[in-house]
Amino acid sequence: MSYKVAVLAGDGIGPEVTAEAVKVLKATGVSFEFEDALVGGIAYDEKGHPLPPETLDLCKKADAVLLGAVGGPKWDKVQPASMRPEVGALLPLRSELNLYANVRPAKTLKPLLQASPLKGANGMIDLVVMRELTGGIYFGQPRERRDNGTTAVDTCIYSKHEVERIAKQAFTIARQRRREIVSVDKANVLETSRLWREVVTEMAEQNKDVKVTHMLIDNAAMQLVRNPQQFDVMLTENMFGDILSDEASMITGSLGLLPSASLSDPKDGKLFGLYEPIHGSAPDIAGQQRANPLAAILSVAMMLQYTFEDLDNAGRIERAVEAVLEDGLRTADIFEKGTKLVSTREMGDAIVTKLN
Ligand code: IPM
Ligand code: MG
Repeated sequence: MSYKVAVLAGDGIGPEVTAEAVKVLKATGVSFEFEDALVGGIAYDEKGHPLPPETLDLCKKADAVLLGAVGGPKWDKVQPASMRPEVGALLPLRSELNLYANVRPAKTLKPLLQASPLKGANGMIDLVVMRELTGGIYFGQPRERRDNGTTAVDTCIYSKHEVERIAKQAFTIARQRRREIVSVDKANVLETSRLWREVVTEMAEQNKDVKVTHMLIDNAAMQLVRNPQQFDVMLTENMFGDILSDEASMITGSLGLLPSASLSDPKDGKLFGLYEPIHGSAPDIAGQQRANPLAAILSVAMMLQYTFEDLDNAGRIERAVEAVLEDGLRTADIFEKGTKLVSTREMGDAIVTKLN
């Protein structure tokens, strides 16, 4: 039996980094069937929509999706705004595929400790942001509105069910880690946050093996810089998670190295998910073999872990990434004096060599 993976390379550096990630998946020896589809600006140019129906169909039939990156200055002015790659492709992919649990690990890789803007002052960081991905202000109804051109409205809605299912996944992930959840909200101001806190508190009582505390978002943003090591799993709603996950990834100093998973419910016994690097499409360096493929490569390690429950191969890939960095190999984004500059492809090849 082989696993079906839909590959949505997208724009900018997306095709280059996903090519290396696919190469690494092939090198594991596991049997995969890869099928490519258009997404993002390139799909808009070729098919008139950033998420063509055939792409969505392919994703629905696959066991897992690998996404590169979407967007670029070429499409920033596309009208209506809902047809821009970020909004017109990413948001419907998330909602149509019911990818409600966004897992964004922020982990310092030892060889890059000094690359952190905090200069490693806080030591190794190892946390996961669990971001609710299909609700809240991103999807509230009415979705967005402009009255008389002078008043704008976005609506934030959460149901108990939406909080429960993301919290449930957070408990599962916490059990694979240090068993600590900090639930982040703005319960001193927002009603959606008060509901969020009630539901999480209720679930904490039924899951006493995991330690659950609550923190307000503004304090959480501050604590993340002050003492990131206090965090294991940060559980939060869509927009707070968007912001916190960028902050968390930056303080590790390895933005180009961080993977992510967007998970749904199990399908045919496997946890369906979309896997993608956290970084964007970096149009300025696209097509030059300068991009760092490690985030895409670590994303397929997450795919092996969560969807295919193949912890052995996931671990092998993670160790290979650490090993090539220990050897001093660096793409341009993390290059420093005394290390060896390699291209996107050379980095992928080095990982494959470590796997063999
Ligand atoms: C992210 C991005 C997206 C988001 C944008 C591009 C719609 O910032 O994946 O974090 O806000 O979710
Ligand atoms: Mg973001």
